[in-house]
Order: sequence, then C-alpha cells, then structure tokens
Amino acid sequence: MAFGLDRRGVLAGALALAACDRRAGAQAAPVDLPPLRTLAQFAIGAAVQAAQLDDPDLGPLIAAQASQLTAEWEMKMEYILQDDGAYRFDAGDRIAAFARANGQRLFGHTLVWFDQRPAAFVALDESRISFEAAYRNYIAAVVGRYRDIAVGWDVVNEAVGEQGEGLRKSLWSDKLGDIKHMVIAFQAARQADPAAILFLNDYNLESLPAKRKAFLKLAEQLLAEGAPLGGLGTQSHLTADLARGAYGAHLRDLASLGLPIHVSELDVSQTRAPLHLIDPGGVRAAQSRLYAEVAEAFSALPAPQRFGLTLWGLRDKDSWLRRENAADAPCLFDDQGRPKPAAGAFANGLR
Ligand code: XIL
Repeated sequence: MAFGLDRRGVLAGALALAACDRRAGAQAAPVDLPPLRTLAQFAIGAAVQAAQLDDPDLGPLIAAQASQLTAEWEMKMEYILQDDGAYRFDAGDRIAAFARANGQRLFGHTLVWFDQRPAAFVALDESRISFEAAYRNYIAAVVGRYRDIAVGWDVVNEAVGEQGEGLRKSLWSDKLGDIKHMVIAFQAARQADPAAILFLNDYNLESLPAKRKAFLKLAEQLLAEGAPLGGLGTQSHLTADLARGAYGAHLRDLASLGLPIHVSELDVSQTRAPLHLIDPGGVRAAQSRLYAEVAEAFSALPAPQRFGLTLWGLRDKDSWLRRENAADAPCLFDDQGRPKPAAGAFANGLR
C-alpha cells in the first residue's frame, strides 16, 4: 500500500468527518487509520496500567499503536515504596515484560516528585541510615531494576513553581536542598544506568511562558552543577483552546538548549477550558486541530532531538481526566478503542 496515497485517504476521511462533526451534539465518528507507531519516525508512547495489558480489548490496542510505554503510576514511589520500606515491582515488571514481548521501549516515570511523601521516608530512622543514603538506594534499586529495557527516566517531575515562581518545596528539597536533591538524583540514576537518557519533566510549559523560562533556567543550572541531565520532558496536558502557534513556539523554545525533547503526557481536554462558548462539534474540531499542531511541531524538530511523543492514555474512557469530568474526551481513541477524527488529524501531522 502506497504510504502517500494512504495518508491522503486518511486526510480526506478525517476532513469529511470533521465537517459532519460540526453539527452540535453529533458524535465524532471513527476513522480508518494505520497504527500510529507505523506512521511516526520517532517513538509513539502510551501511558499504561499493568491490568490494562491483560484487557482483551485494550492490550492489543496498546501493542498495535505504541512503540514505547510509560507506567501511568505503578513505577512511582506511591506504588513501589511500601510503608515499611520494602519495594513492590510486580506491576512495573509486568509492563516491562509486555514491552519486551511487543518490541516496545520502556520509559521510566518518575523517581523524584514533590507530590509524594512516602511514609518510609517521612519516618526514616536516620540513626540507622542517612536520608541521603536511603534516597540514593531507592533510585539505584528502581533504575537498576529496569536498566536492560528503560531508554529513559523522568528523574525529577514538576520541580518548578506553579506559575514559574522559583522552585517547589518538598520533602526532598527540605532534607537535601533545592538544587542539591535534584543533582543527587540525576547522579544516582546515571550510576545505576549509564545508558538511559535522564529527563527533567514539567507541565503547563506551553501555556505559561514564565514557567517555561524558569524550567529552562533550572535545566541550565542543573547542567552547570554537573547533573547528567540528558533531556527535557513537556507533559502537554493541553486544553482545546490553546492559541494557534503556541505549542510550536514552546517546543522550539525548549529545543534551544539542544537536548532531546519528550512530549511526555499528551492529552487535549475538551472540558478543562471555558469552551462552552462554542458548540460541541467546534470543541472537537479545536481538539483535532491542536493534536495536528502537536504532531507537526514535534516532527519539525531536528531528528536527534525527537526523543518521543507519549499519549497519556489511548481510549477516552481510560483517561485520568475522565475521573475529573465524566464528559471529557481527551484522547485519540474513543471508548471502544476506535480512532477518532483527532487521530486522523494527528496522523496527518506526523511526518
Ligand atoms: C496521574 C495519573 O494519570 C493518575 O492515574 C494518578 O492517579 C495521578 O497521576 N502529571 C504527571 C503524571 O506527571 O504522573 C500524572 O499522572 C498526571 C500529571
């Protein structure tokens, strides 16, 4: 099948459906689409939970569409580190095995996150082991466990203040220092896996230029302090009303440091923004347009800087945003796992 013809077919179909879709209240009809992982020249990631891999509908969709997996939460401290300090790797191991079986890369998420204050660290008996040693041990154990398959890690997640005002305070910064706890984490991860690309990851970088500036400043500071920072992750939990051109401008800005870029948690909410001003078909059209813009802007980066683009869930019904608002439909695939017009638009944006 000729790739060019196929893509034109996809485009025509997606446009026709998008046109029908403008009727208020209309359901977005699915489109025919080759698997995304076969269309992109870089990794297409998906966030997954171990149990989803054994779901007879969802497992095959994940295997077919994605060439890289991120654990949605089961490789975070909240899952791995139990109250008594013991580690729990069953879910991460299941995800790693699925990735191996399906020729997919594994991406590690996440080692250090201000959001997590595990009891094992809060109640650490520092007469037996120092906080820093326990922190290094955790990172060494988790990164070491997956060193054969993980291509990269989100070492530090969401370190910049909500609006870009300085750095967040956390258990980790209180005990080990604002910058120092990050430098230690990057160094410990590097020791445990010399080959993995080590990322700083954050959100709202496309919508808040001040936060993006603070994020880039932090990246430069970490490099100056000797942290083996190897890539920048931009979560990209977007809202369908993001201004045209803003996404591409943000990617070009992030790429200015020359590091690989990971679009690490992409979804496009239909309900998080004040979109009640336009009809439902218009919201879906805006979502499709933005998905296309993300794919185009990422494809336009220099090849060595295209680490990968990860979808934070494939089907609408599995999305974390559904739990926030039952009416949201932020993903590329509908509840039945069929590609939405947004998936056609996204596919056309991939070069
Ligand atoms: C979310 C998951 O999707 C949820 O299932 C979980 O309950 C909470 O975390 N930024 C991140 C991700 O870095 O880890 C978050 O994932 C979404 C926001």
